[in-house]
Amino acid sequence: MIIDKVKKLALEECSKDSWDWESHLRGVVKYSLILCDKLGSDKEILEIAAWLHDIEKIKDINVSLHHVKGSETAVKILKEENYPKEKIEVVRQCILTHSSDENYPPETKEQKILASADALCHFDNILNLLHAYFALGKCSVKEGKEKLIKKLDKIMKKASLLPEAKKIATERYAIIKEALNL
Ligand SMILES: [Fe+2]
Repeated sequence: MIIDKVKKLALEECSKDSWDWESHLRGVVKYSLILCDKLGSDKEILEIAAWLHDIEKIKDINVSLHHVKGSETAVKILKEENYPKEKIEVVRQCILTHSSDENYPPETKEQKILASADALCHFDNILNLLHAYFALGKCSVKEGKEKLIKKLDKIMKKASLLPEAKKIATERYAIIKEALNL
């Protein structure tokens, strides 16, 4: 099955890096499917796009335009699997528009679902953000808190592409804000 193949491929890439990419991808898949349910979209296409959306960033965190390169890589992978051309095009455009790049804004329902899910998944992985700021970034509590609030505001903005995603984000943000005293 095509989903199993791209999932295996993506998880193999995750296992090569010390950063917890697996949680990120699983979160993006989770919220993509939740939004598909709410909005009536193609789950197979969105799940494939979710597993592959950061493939180039996982390979190299410093890569520029990972969404552009990732969309090309996804096309290559899916062509090799003989996935239908018109579905490959939807996956390609979802990956191309999932980042906050003003040159490639998400426009269709599918594109907005992936971009929103990419933001929403952070609410399930707050520990990763804390780790990034406090452990890896060696921030003071004050600095780390400021960075976290900035990041969560950015996440809220991206999740607000769809009212259904904004609702989930607002609920999750309120819980985190209270728990962490932000
Ligand atoms: Fe992502």
